[in-house]
Amino acid sequence: MVNDINAQLSKPLQEPSLDVQGFESPRSLMERLAEDLVPLLELAHRPVISARQFNREQLVQLCRLAAKYETEPHRITRPLTGKILISAFYEPSTRTRLSFESAWHRLGGDIMSITDPATTGIAKGESFYDVGEMLNHYGDMVVLRDSNNRAVYEMLEALRIPIVNGGNGTDEHPTQAMADVYTILKAVPQLTDPNSMKASEKIRIGIIGVPGRMRTIRSLLLFLSLFSVGIDELVIISEDQDPFSEGQYKELSEAGLNIRITPDLDKVLPQLDVVYLNAIAWVSDGYEEHGRTYRLDADSPFKPGAVVMHPLARGEELDRSLDETPYNWYFAQARGAVFVRMALLSVLLKSYS
Ligand code: CP
Repeated sequence: MVNDINAQLSKPLQEPSLDVQGFESPRSLMERLAEDLVPLLELAHRPVISARQFNREQLVQLCRLAAKYETEPHRITRPLTGKILISAFYEPSTRTRLSFESAWHRLGGDIMSITDPATTGIAKGESFYDVGEMLNHYGDMVVLRDSNNRAVYEMLEALRIPIVNGGNGTDEHPTQAMADVYTILKAVPQLTDPNSMKASEKIRIGIIGVPGRMRTIRSLLLFLSLFSVGIDELVIISEDQDPFSEGQYKELSEAGLNIRITPDLDKVLPQLDVVYLNAIAWVSDGYEEHGRTYRLDADSPFKPGAVVMHPLARGEELDRSLDETPYNWYFAQARGAVFVRMALLSVLLKSYS
């Protein structure tokens, strides 16, 4: 199986047929990566709850598989034919639910989708454990989003099929962070091998948001810590003096990230290679807004070649004037999420295309 995959991946690439104007082709990412999918075999039939479950090698190879799907869509077979995904979203979602469902469909599978908690036993007091026991009989994999940090763990206890965390409260959102890393690696392919980066190549990443309250950022920072050798500085732009949750700063620092906190976006923006903007934190049945004073538009003082990313629903913090600029990598980020999720799903079910 591994030899087959490696043989497939070593074939010369054709021109990407689905390239979107304004972002770098994933082709440059593929060309820089080692040809070895063995690390991914360890992920088969496992749940995906936290970014902590992945090492750098696995993450890079997942991105490589995603790049293969993105650059060679005509070669995608339908390896999930006959498999059923249970897409359980007890909290609103555009990107995560639809990109997971798109990914599953593109791999040939069928889907049962829950988009309203009031339509399941949860509305009658059924536990996530009991729902999980039922789901074992109905599908081959579950993607769950819920505002309660614990829900995914309760369901996991009963499940005998893999579950993927599609966002659990303020805790984690590992697959969004995979899509984020995929985007960053496309823009900075040398980060796939951070130990080989020269000092002048190391990048500075700015995160506008509150890592202690935002699940996307929490997971992304855990992934970025795997690449810390290639990251000169991680700048958290926040009005909060202590935007981290308990132990978070220490964990990330000990993993090698050089972290600075500043409230001054305009001052730091011209130094940033990657700018990641998140203004929403889902808490309970609603959301908190953070840092609405921070806004990016086409006139913001970006470093030439800067990459702007935004993982969530757009608010006033991200002006539409940026859409037509080369700084806009957020559409590529959303699009790449489909291919990263295809890679992850096929690896989890050991059904490579
Ligand atoms: N990235 C993300 O979680 O967006 P959605 O809420 O639209 O799924």
